[in-house]
Amino acid sequence: MTTKLLVANLSDITIKGSRRIKVNDLEIAVFRLSDDSVLAVENSCPHKGGTLAEGIVCGTAVHCPLHDWKIDLRTGRVQEPDEGCVTTFATEVDKASGSIYITI
Ligand code: FES
Repeated sequence: MTTKLLVANLSDITIKGSRRIKVNDLEIAVFRLSDDSVLAVENSCPHKGGTLAEGIVCGTAVHCPLHDWKIDLRTGRVQEPDEGCVTTFATEVDKASGSIYITI
């Protein structure tokens, strides 16, 4: 079963910034990219659990703040030479209101 949740407004997140969302035991990092698109992934690095929402956004990737693994926010995959992946969540932005929805 999937659920679509209103999690923030585009104006709540700075460009290349992020916001943490908690849904029950699940923590999700929602990122606003420089083109105003929004992507969401599980907020835990597959290496040693670094908080991805505190990472640096570069293009469509986030650099983990702990050991600089690079994670593609579109696919959730860790970029080579490292390996792993995080769960991604579908996002939707209402252009008129700026409302950000994620589907979990
Ligand atoms: S915990 Fe993310 S790179 Fe080590």
